[in-house]
Amino acid sequence: MSSSSALLPVPAHVAIIMDGNGRWAKRRGLPRLEGHRRGVESVRAVVDAARALGIRCITLYAFSVENWRRPEDEVGGLMVLLETFLAKEKANLLKNRVRLRAIGRIAALPSRARAALEDVMSATAHFTEHTLVLALNYGARTEVLDAARAFAVEVAAGRARPEDADTWEGFSRHLYTADLPDPDLVIRTSGETRLSNFLLVQSAYAEFVFTPVLWPDFGARELEAAVDDYRRRERRYGLTGEQVSRPGPVAAREPAPSVI
Ligand code: IPE
Ligand code: IPE
Ligand code: MG
Repeated sequence: MSSSSALLPVPAHVAIIMDGNGRWAKRRGLPRLEGHRRGVESVRAVVDAARALGIRCITLYAFSVENWRRPEDEVGGLMVLLETFLAKEKANLLKNRVRLRAIGRIAALPSRARAALEDVMSATAHFTEHTLVLALNYGARTEVLDAARAFAVEVAAGRARPEDADTWEGFSRHLYTADLPDPDLVIRTSGETRLSNFLLVQSAYAEFVFTPVLWPDFGARELEAAVDDYRRRERRYGLTGEQVSRPGPVAAREPAPSVI
């Protein structure tokens, strides 16, 4: 909590772990997939609300590398929902000038979902103001492995030197998120207080909001409340509260890139 009354600016990047679809359905005696269907409605509402709040980038954790181990019909249903969401949402994203991006091992998605994703991504690639990032077949550890491998390939080909990985800037350009800012705020719904392999290195200095609200019940109002909570915080990046509230020569700098 901030000691001064100045509010932080609206977060540039909000990342959300959308959890609780299954429990939402179970409480109503409905199949889990119905919870996922209602979850898609929340996605629409939250993407619009984020844009209205001036949030430039929003990342939604939609499917983890671990989620393949769920029952086959649930995984299949989720992939169909992704496909229909993209087909229906394309016009809206174009109208609102939102760029769609994906992070994760996209090549391993079913071909129809992948084709729908690539279609919308290429149609919206030129937009710069707002970005919607879908984390699909995503795992933070998998991302680090993919980045390490990509870096090793560059070194082996003589296009990079091992010392390029002495700084975070040098290495992080191999992450899926190379062209995205780090999340300022990470929200998880459904009362769980864990990260479940989501953006672990990018969230090094993110602020967290954990809410008991299940994802199908999360909408514009809940997003606004999370952003209000975030804006009252004080981000210290390792400095003292005094340095942050009265910036001197050290606090005026962003965190030293060679250190973190
Ligand atoms: C989140 O809701 C959606 C995905 C992981 C795809 P869950 O399906 O995990 O819902 P709960 O945790 O079982 O309630
Ligand atoms: C995290 O939710 C993954 C997504 C939201 C896509 P899970 O429901 O899969 O996470 P755990 O298994 O409860 O940690
Ligand atoms: Mg869950």
